[in-house]
Amino acid sequence: MRSGDTEHRSIWLESDGWSVGIIDQTRLPEAFETSRLTTLEETAAAISRMQVRGAPLIGVTAAYGLALSLRRDPGDEALDTARRTLLATRPTAVNLRWAVDRVTAVTLPLPPEERARAAYGEAARLAEADVEVNRRIGEEGLTLLRNAASNGGEGPVQVLTHCNAGRLATVDLGTATAPLYLAHEEGVELHVWVSETRPRNQGAALTAWELGRAGIAHTVLVDSAGSYLMAQGRVDLCIVGADRVAANGDVANKIGTYPKALAARDNGVPIYVAAPLSTIDRTLADGGAIPIEERNPDEVTHVRGRTADGEVALVELTPPGTRAANPALDLTPARLVTGLITQEGLVPASPAGLNSLPWSRATVRSRRA
Ligand code: MRU
Repeated sequence: MRSGDTEHRSIWLESDGWSVGIIDQTRLPEAFETSRLTTLEETAAAISRMQVRGAPLIGVTAAYGLALSLRRDPGDEALDTARRTLLATRPTAVNLRWAVDRVTAVTLPLPPEERARAAYGEAARLAEADVEVNRRIGEEGLTLLRNAASNGGEGPVQVLTHCNAGRLATVDLGTATAPLYLAHEEGVELHVWVSETRPRNQGAALTAWELGRAGIAHTVLVDSAGSYLMAQGRVDLCIVGADRVAANGDVANKIGTYPKALAARDNGVPIYVAAPLSTIDRTLADGGAIPIEERNPDEVTHVRGRTADGEVALVELTPPGTRAANPALDLTPARLVTGLITQEGLVPASPAGLNSLPWSRATVRSRRA
């Protein structure tokens, strides 16, 4: 992402060689602000408060959080505390556990004085691998968009996405957005329906911001409008991300994904889930066991935005004292998912589809990247 003269990824190692830079996503779209993480506690707070968010980015941030912690105290007890602190921040995105386990596996066998350097090295490898993985997801998804462009009638390919599975949700490129960026670069004519994604409005605030910067035509919709557009024949395909995919292909993603999948099925619109292998949790037989994050009800009763004076303000939507529920994710059954776009190809959302993925090769590749 470009800010002034500088091209930013969503996370980076600062020039001091140890602190970690992030884009503060709670300030977008009104302001592009970066923030510096210097401790485990700051890192955990950045993930919990969603200054960084999106499954792959949460994972890489947690990896750097362990490095920051080991820099201060490389002992076994501190490492265990750091792991627990990070794992408690957000429960659904399995990339968090995946990244924490990767850094632990690399550092724990080492003498304490070597651990911090090894953790920084592993965090950097995970960050680089994420960009490469997203590029490969983009290439897989690009084929679908090219096909839609050549099979469709007049006008742009109409894609619907939900939440932000974009550059801001990853180190760069995004998962669901990677095919869009590559198609746009290649000159495929696109238009993206961006579902606003209440209550935190990641679609309206973040995806619209990203697509606008990339020059990709897009229109923001209220969440409930997607099904109407599908019934009207105004959506060629949906592409969404995932926070966790179970071994049978059930998908946990941002609340509001399931109704889109139902509407897609009813209207014969394909819906693809773009996800790296690190989002697939083969330890869970089906989605029923995926922990679903419940967030603060204040996110439902209040909304943040810019007033006509240009001030950023938080306003209350409901009568004071109204109770609200805030499940942050939902489960889409595998039977409704047209396919999973992974870095190793497009596979059916089924046990056979997931088993067909080259798991050992994927690990080796991402280690080298
Ligand atoms: O709660 P968020 O904003 O972290 O939710 C993000 C999503 O639901 C994304 O679709 C998912 O993490 C995939 S990000 C590539």
